[in-house]
Amino acid sequence: MQEMKLNRAKKGVLQNLLDRFCKSNVMSSTKKIVKAEKKVRAAVVGMGIGRPNGRAIARNSRGQVVALCDIVEERMKDFAKELPEKVKFYTDYKEMCKDPDIDAVFVGTPNQLHVPIALEAVRNGKHVMVTKPLADSESAAAKLVEEAEDAGVVNMMSLSTRFSATCRYLGDLAQQGYFGELYYARARSIRRSGIPAWNLGFIQKGGGAFRDMGVHALDAVWWILGMPKPVSVFGVAGAKFGPRGLGYWDFSKPKKEIYEQYAADDYAGGFIRFENGIGLQVESFWASHQPGEFQIELFGTEAGAQMSPLKLYRTEHGAPQDISVNLPRGPEAWDNIAGHFIECILDGKECTAPLRHGLIVQQMMEALLKSAETGKEVRL
Ligand SMILES: NC(=O)c1ccc[n+]([C@@H]2O[C@H](COP(=O)([O-])OP(=O)(O)OC[C@H]3O[C@@H](n4cnc5c(N)ncnc54)[C@H](O)[C@@H]3O)[C@@H](O)[C@H]2O)c1
Repeated sequence: MQEMKLNRAKKGVLQNLLDRFCKSNVMSSTKKIVKAEKKVRAAVVGMGIGRPNGRAIARNSRGQVVALCDIVEERMKDFAKELPEKVKFYTDYKEMCKDPDIDAVFVGTPNQLHVPIALEAVRNGKHVMVTKPLADSESAAAKLVEEAEDAGVVNMMSLSTRFSATCRYLGDLAQQGYFGELYYARARSIRRSGIPAWNLGFIQKGGGAFRDMGVHALDAVWWILGMPKPVSVFGVAGAKFGPRGLGYWDFSKPKKEIYEQYAADDYAGGFIRFENGIGLQVESFWASHQPGEFQIELFGTEAGAQMSPLKLYRTEHGAPQDISVNLPRGPEAWDNIAGHFIECILDGKECTAPLRHGLIVQQMMEALLKSAETGKEVRL
């Protein structure tokens, strides 16, 4: 009887957490009714990942896409057809950043151009949002963060995994103490044949699997763990498929002149130790002879979890309890990202994903890649 009561009480805690999460998720998707309220006038640079980000800004009742920038005009014209209002076109981001009718800039170009474009935006007093990874090197990332913070503009990372419903749910549970002490985690992105080469930035210096997908796994798990301070990193990395013309997106065959330019990792894996003793195993493979998956696994003193499919694990009175969680359909991660960026700009809300977080993740990534190169542990 006593046990049944205890069980019910524990189930109640979990149900309450789920109810609260669902409520906040629904609430954030509900469009507020605003009367001629100020809107954030945003420019989108890069017509790849710029599209979902731009669509979400345009969908938000307090956001507006007023300009597009890309070196390929057709891509801008094509995306502009989807937008509710007329937009200006720019092929030169420097010229675009001078436009006084733009409040904020989203940067979605190849990695190597994130910092030059974001710096130009910040130097012109624009709020800025940058896709992952923040940069192609730690020094470039640090320079941008310093200037963005000094300029006092809202500066944010666009992180589609961190802002997904599953990740937010696990982060909420961790914050409520559901897992007890989280002391270990594993995070990985594994692809069978998924080297992207639709722009050379992916496979050239500053690109690579770890900065492309490792960044999602690493950022999300680091955030769920409460963003502990990293102290040491050990890793391995290499390119086993890309330089041979193998492992490209959906088993496609690239031209020799493309894969000859391969100068990045196509896999990387390693171990990060944090100041509070947490250990993290992190892996990213663009190509492998393994089934594809994106996974985060959490080890806590009171409970554990896996991200996909979302499951919680605990022991109740000596028996295993595995709980499958089906989250209700909420807003897309892109809407959460755009909504938060807009709130930070218009309402002065504190940014929960500032570029500084992107810098710390970049430091961990670069340390892992450096460790792979030198064969030594890198202390941060
Ligand atoms: N989930 C995510 O958050 C996510 C998903 C995919 C890609 N990304 C990131 O987005 C970035 C771009 O990847 P993608 O897949 O969209 O690539 P893409 O090639 O589809 O798009 C990049 C665009 O940038 C444009 N561009 C290049 N140089 C430019 C310049 N100087 N000025 C203006 N535009 C320029 C290109 O013409 C192209 O249209 C990468 O850093 C990648 O890591 C993030």
